Amino acid sequence: MKRGFKSIALLLVIALFAALVAACGGKNGGSGGKVSVGIVLPTKDEERWLQDEQRFKDALSDTKYSTEILFSQGSSAKEKENVETLINKGIKVLIICPFDGAAAGAAVEAAKKEGIQVIAYDRLITNTDAVDYYVTFDSKTVGAKQAQYLVDHAKGSGQPLYLYAGAATDNNAFIFFEGAWEVLQPKIADGTFKIANSSEATALKDSKSLTRDQISKIIGQVTTNWDANEAKNKAQTHLTAASADMKGDVAILAPNDGTSRSIADVFASDKAITSYVITGQDADKASIQYIIDGKQSMTVFKDVRTLVKDAIGMAVELLDGKTPETTGSYNNGKKDVKAKQTDVIVVEKSNVKQELVDSKYYKESDFTGL
Ligand code: BGC
Repeated sequence: MKRGFKSIALLLVIALFAALVAACGGKNGGSGGKVSVGIVLPTKDEERWLQDEQRFKDALSDTKYSTEILFSQGSSAKEKENVETLINKGIKVLIICPFDGAAAGAAVEAAKKEGIQVIAYDRLITNTDAVDYYVTFDSKTVGAKQAQYLVDHAKGSGQPLYLYAGAATDNNAFIFFEGAWEVLQPKIADGTFKIANSSEATALKDSKSLTRDQISKIIGQVTTNWDANEAKNKAQTHLTAASADMKGDVAILAPNDGTSRSIADVFASDKAITSYVITGQDADKASIQYIIDGKQSMTVFKDVRTLVKDAIGMAVELLDGKTPETTGSYNNGKKDVKAKQTDVIVVEKSNVKQELVDSKYYKESDFTGL
């Protein structure tokens, strides 16, 4: 009788403890237990997504909801597995930045089947109706600002223009290029620039705007795949093939900071390149140092704190049964996805300190020579 009571008491204590662990576990990246919001990011191999992870952690430290962040390491299979892991942990909202926007359809459809609300984060998920919301920067303006910088710094006429693009698996790569093309095209048509490295782009030089198929052909020639090594190899190949009149003072449309730094290094080491103006985006710390050192011309600063705040705000509203506020929509090939969009800022040497240090995005001590 006494022994029976003791073991029931013990069982009760164990059950209580298990319930406690389940309630606490999973909070802000812990494992095990229930999770309300699952976050899936594409890779740890680029500074950009580590920045997002950190900003999510900062913003989540005082939410009452439990969350978990998983990385897909550039693999759609891993991404699907991550989503399944989070579904099994009982998430109600999924915030996902896909590695491959089309392939991610299957993963979010699995989530949708479980009644989970899906928020595409930074990159749109295409050709599925299983996306509920989209939080994004103004990506067309990112491309337009990069291009405008090249136009504003053009030297004379007939200046060689080297074009590079992101990965064809990323819907943003198309939007960035579309935005850039609309600004560059009139300056190609009037002879300010001559395209140095894409026969597809040259063939389209009189088209004011491009279809997705046309952009796809150009991306096919000048993609970096968002990979610094691929960017470096392409730049080397282009410079080896370039005739003397495609060297001298050149302009380079580089899609983001990681690829910009490696393309810049290649151009800097070619003696026939007298000067170059090169774009970027993300305000990677490494690129801010390049800008301070005069090795990269500009970057487009996308304040990840805002995107994270918008994504979490949206998730919390959904958890509370409310309808999040949106500012527009993006068509993903299947539906118009309601979207919340954030502005971007051009940063060059003259305003680095004001935009990135004074705004407390980075510390002054992160850099030398500022
Ligand atoms: C993001 C960029 C990033 C790129 C490569 C894009 O979808 O918008 O910020 O540099 O992917 O990861």
